Amino acid sequence: MSTTLADSPRTGALLPPLRFGQHVVDVPVVLAPMAGVTNAPFRSLCREHGAGVYVSEMVTSRALVERTPESLRLVQHEPGASPRSVQLYGVDPATVGAAVRMLVEEDLADHVDLNFGCPVPKVTRRGGGSALPWKSGLFRDVVRAAVRAAQTSSGPDVPVTVKMRKGIDPDHLTYLDAGRTAEAEGAAWVALHGRTAADGYAGTADWEAIARLKEAVTSIPVLGNGDIWSAEDAVRMVGRSGCDGVVVGRGCLGRPWLFADLAAALQGRPERVRPGLREATATLRRHAELLVEHFGDELRGCREIRKHVAWYLKGYVVGGHMRAQLGLVDTLAALDALIATLDLDQPHPGEAAEGSRGRTSPAPRVVLPEGWLDSRELTGASLEVVRAGELDPSATAGG
Ligand SMILES: Cc1cc2nc3c(=O)[nH]c(=O)nc-3n(C[C@H](O)[C@H](O)[C@H](O)COP(=O)(O)O)c2cc1C
Repeated sequence: MSTTLADSPRTGALLPPLRFGQHVVDVPVVLAPMAGVTNAPFRSLCREHGAGVYVSEMVTSRALVERTPESLRLVQHEPGASPRSVQLYGVDPATVGAAVRMLVEEDLADHVDLNFGCPVPKVTRRGGGSALPWKSGLFRDVVRAAVRAAQTSSGPDVPVTVKMRKGIDPDHLTYLDAGRTAEAEGAAWVALHGRTAADGYAGTADWEAIARLKEAVTSIPVLGNGDIWSAEDAVRMVGRSGCDGVVVGRGCLGRPWLFADLAAALQGRPERVRPGLREATATLRRHAELLVEHFGDELRGCREIRKHVAWYLKGYVVGGHMRAQLGLVDTLAALDALIATLDLDQPHPGEAAEGSRGRTSPAPRVVLPEGWLDSRELTGASLEVVRAGELDPSATAGG
């Protein structure tokens, strides 16, 4: 299964296609999993503009195995999605393995990404997300269980990939060990967000660390993540780190067309999408409609679109009152009525529409299980916390 840009020239491409498992993706660009954002409607919009890999929101392994309605919604894919990428979170190898098995046997995914980057307290206090690679044996066992469960007798194995941060804080870095372990255990790529858990989203991502990981992991693609706000940033990251592809999160909030820019830039083409307000609001409107369809509930879909409004309007001249009204819409008709009052002939505002968006704050404090940092082995109280954590299917939060 592959995504191709058959009619795009490959001459001038900055990077070769991204190969993982049986997939060959011409443009090595990945939409970063973002809880509450990268649902099927948003992935659809991004996919229309680019030719990369578009990953679901994180799904908790335990909740998936228990078939909670929310986890089954999270693994729904947009029509025509290929490959279908699901991100799993889990702390117990057996449960992660069972979740991967379910995805493979029930044909719910063509690619599974494992979350080792989430810094939010309700995840790290259970030893999950960005806390987990510190326990090196547990990390190895989770990756091993996932890779084994993704093997099939009837067709190609489903590739399992790893997404991680640099470590917990500057004194507890794990990414080089974890990268080598993931490679040895059969992961199909490793992606590094160049921040520690303690960094949260503050400061600038450390692209040097991506270069170090690229030196350490030599037989599978190393993808770089963090602070790609434009296609030019992606080109710079590739140049500075030598990474094999890029993972883009916040930069595409309110502008799914960034994937067209990324595809063009990585193929050496100069064109960039610069929508005027009419096109930007048309995409916002379609996003809202897809959300309403996806949730099967107009109010829910409209509530979901509210958080995207400011991102779509960044840089355009739209007054504060109108922005506030748009941030309260509860029907598609109300959204249409408000959009109709805007000066839709405005051209793209240039730099004002660019730059950072979304979270930028540090993690308030990395919350870890008692004694977690005392040893890299999983023993005693830490072991109990991990076991208990996996039993709680409510730990669905973003990273
Ligand atoms: C709202 C939000 C939700 C996120 N949810 C997840 C998630 O579910 N899984 C994950 O691995 N990372 C998650 N992340 C982290 C992103 O995937 C990405 O690593 C991070 O934003 C850095 O990339 P960026 O600078 O391109 O945004 C989330 C980030 C944001 C802003």
